[in-house]
Parts: sequence; structure tokens; C-alpha cells
Amino acid sequence: MNSDYQIDQPAGPIGANISGIDLNNINSTAVDFIRKALSEHVVLFFRDQALDAASLLELASKFGSPVPYPFVKGLSGFPEVVEVIKRPEDTLNFGGVWHSDTAYLETPAMGALLYGVDIPKRGGDTLFTNMYNVFDSLSTGMQSFLGSQMAINDADNEAIRATRPGSTKKGLLATHPVVRTHPVTKRPLLYINKAHTTRFAGMSESESAPILNFLFERIMQPEFSCRFQWQRGSLAFWDNRACQHYPLNDYQGELRKMLRVSLAGDKPR
Ligand code: SIN
Repeated sequence: MNSDYQIDQPAGPIGANISGIDLNNINSTAVDFIRKALSEHVVLFFRDQALDAASLLELASKFGSPVPYPFVKGLSGFPEVVEVIKRPEDTLNFGGVWHSDTAYLETPAMGALLYGVDIPKRGGDTLFTNMYNVFDSLSTGMQSFLGSQMAINDADNEAIRATRPGSTKKGLLATHPVVRTHPVTKRPLLYINKAHTTRFAGMSESESAPILNFLFERIMQPEFSCRFQWQRGSLAFWDNRACQHYPLNDYQGELRKMLRVSLAGDKPR
């Protein structure tokens, strides 16, 4: 292992800062190092990088297959790279609810890379939470009940629709296990999210709501999370199978612009 690479873990449950790697110029040793660190820490943060759409896409392709983001048009010439932008006059922020990405697809994204281009003077942090830890915090009785359940995930669920008017799609749903086994670490984790999960399969929304709401509250508990403060040139790379994220909307009147690439994932099992 290259001793120039450093990992520093700022919060207990999730996230690691990686230094000593120039993301414009990574070799196979660095790729292996990042893959291993991602499995362990679930989200990785890098500072002072100099990326554009082409180099971000090239970087992402070292870790998987970049895919376009549903409902969001990619950049010209780079359909897999989307701008996540909130202008000074905007009031909503993209994905401003706790979520894992694209759970309404049969094969939701495996991960995503998000790069800071224009960052507000203050605010605009992103929170990440560890879904292994959330699952582990539940009683064995609840774990076993949830382990036998499937849930419906809907692209047009009210909670996510409220964060992006006009850019969701009716009728795009996927049924996934509520407890998923991570394909790399083989650990169980909770796989429902407030943005997309509407009910347990075989139950109505009102029957499902008490338990789903209990779980959504649990997911928001700060003990499972870390908070990343962006700077221009920062990059976050998260394992979308094992975490959820929540971008804060606390910088009204300022511009925040990010570039984002999603990586193709597999069918949750
Ligand atoms: C998202 O991908 O949900 C947005 C994350 C962010 O803007 O921090």
C-alpha cells in the first residue's frame, strides 16, 4: 500500500477524508485503495481536486459504469454528468430529503461522485448516514420482521416530488427487499428511504406508515451520520447501497453548483 495515501475518520459512524491522491492522475494502486476504503467507510471525501466534466467522468469510470441520472438531462457531450445547481433565486434544492439514489429502479445506482464547483460562503453541507448502523440499532424482533418484507419504491412519491417539481415520473416503481445484503461486504443493512419508499409489499400505505415512519425517524438520528462541509474542488464518493444523504438547504440567495456522476448498480438482494 502506498504510504502517501492518508485516511482520517472525522466522525464515528461513517465517512473518511482521503488525502495524498490526485484524482486526475490515479493508478491502479490508488483505485484499489479507494475501493477498499469505500467498503469500510461508505463515503469518502477528497479536497483540492481540479476536475471538469470529462475528468470526473473518467475518474468515475475507474470504479464502475457511469449512467445518466433519470429525469435530469446531462451536460452536452457528457450525458452521464449532471449539474446539481441551486441558483440564488431558487428555493428548493435537488434531493433535499433523506434518500438513497434511484431506489425506484430495478437496479439502483451503486454509488455516486459529487464534485463542488461553486460553493456558498456558508451552508450547503451534505449529511450522510450509515445504513448498516441503522439496521444494527434495531431489536432482533424488528430486524427479523423487516428481513421478511419487501417494499415499494416510487419515483413520484410526494416526499421527493416536493424537492423537484416537474422532474419526477409517474409509474416508475421498484419492489426491493427492506433488508438488503451488501454485495461486497455481505453485511445486512436497511434499504428503505423517505424519499421513495411508500409502503411494504402486500400492505396499504396507512398500514405501513407507523413502521416506516418509525424507521425514517431512526435513519435521521444524528448518531448514525456525518456532515461534510464543501469547498470548491471537494469531491464526495458514496456507496449508495449502504448510505443515505441529505443536502442542507440553508444558503438562500447564494449559488451552489456541483457536478455529479452515478454508477450503475445491481439488483438489491
Ligand atoms: C444529491 O445527489 O442528492 C445532491 C447532493 C448534494 O447536493 O449535496
